[in-house]
Amino acid sequence: SFSGPALKDMFADDFKIGAAVNPPTIRSQEQLLAYHFNSITAENEMKFESVHPQEEVYTFDQADGLAAFARKHGLAMRGHTLVWHNQTSDWLFTDGAGASVSKELLLARLKSHIDTVVGRYRGQIYAWDVVNEVIADEGPELLRPSKWLEIAGPEFIAKAFEYAHEADPQALLFYNDYNESHPQKRDKIYTLLKSLLDQGVLVHGVGLQAHWNLYDPALDDIRAAIEKYASLGLQLQLTELDMSLFRFDDKRTDLTSPPPELLELQAERYDGVFRLLREYRQVISSVTFWGAADDYTWLDNFPVRGRKNWPFLFDEQHRPKPAFERLAALS
Ligand code: XIL
Repeated sequence: SFSGPALKDMFADDFKIGAAVNPPTIRSQEQLLAYHFNSITAENEMKFESVHPQEEVYTFDQADGLAAFARKHGLAMRGHTLVWHNQTSDWLFTDGAGASVSKELLLARLKSHIDTVVGRYRGQIYAWDVVNEVIADEGPELLRPSKWLEIAGPEFIAKAFEYAHEADPQALLFYNDYNESHPQKRDKIYTLLKSLLDQGVLVHGVGLQAHWNLYDPALDDIRAAIEKYASLGLQLQLTELDMSLFRFDDKRTDLTSPPPELLELQAERYDGVFRLLREYRQVISSVTFWGAADDYTWLDNFPVRGRKNWPFLFDEQHRPKPAFERLAALS
């Protein structure tokens, strides 16, 4: 059982505090989630391939279970995600004979998907990641190559926002991406958002995934990204925060417990990040971690399978880590 300061209360005047969840973690982390968090996101269960495996088949059992968990504990819920190049069913892009569909058919299927999924959670999901990760990481190209782009051209992005708004006029609509604080990619994300806004597309916010580590990105780059996105008049949310103990390309798989000196560095890093985020509380409305405690994180298998990671504020037994204590001392 939990006592002491709750994370969500420490930042009650600043932003919501969220966690990504899945069917096992709402069981194993139920008390932790209910005590420390006031928002959740489905880690995988609302993605295209999870809810819409065949054209005529929708599978909402797992997503509905997470939505029921949110209602049970009075948690806000973010929706993730409607348009992405990953975890999206192949049938969407092909006809019965396996040939590529036309642009018109792809957009019609997209509209029907968004109507159904966004419509189902109208009134419960207050913010949707409408479009996820369409900006190219490297090179001069603005948009990442994908089936979406190949078949529909860049217009699928604006269309997705239009359809989402029609399906739930109350929902806040987000563009979400990673490496969002790296200067080059930041500028490209800005360019996309600016052009959407200039075309009159209704975008409310930008999601900074914030898959960060002890060394990267620099606080100054995070600050510059926040300032740049906020200059468009958009609200910001951190949507997938984790603080890996390792650089992305560090291949070590030998550690079975977190070295105390790294946990101290992590505490220092979280302290710096949350001090910075708090400065921008007027524009940052939510900070969601991509998990809740170190017993489960996607980073245990990404990008290196079997490399255990300890990215959160709570340990494998759901006890506060040094990073949590540092944040508690902030308020
Ligand atoms: C990840 C999940 O955490 C994993 O379980 C899954 O295998 C792959 O996707 N960016 C996103 C998230 O927008 O949807 C991803 O989630 C992590 C990166």
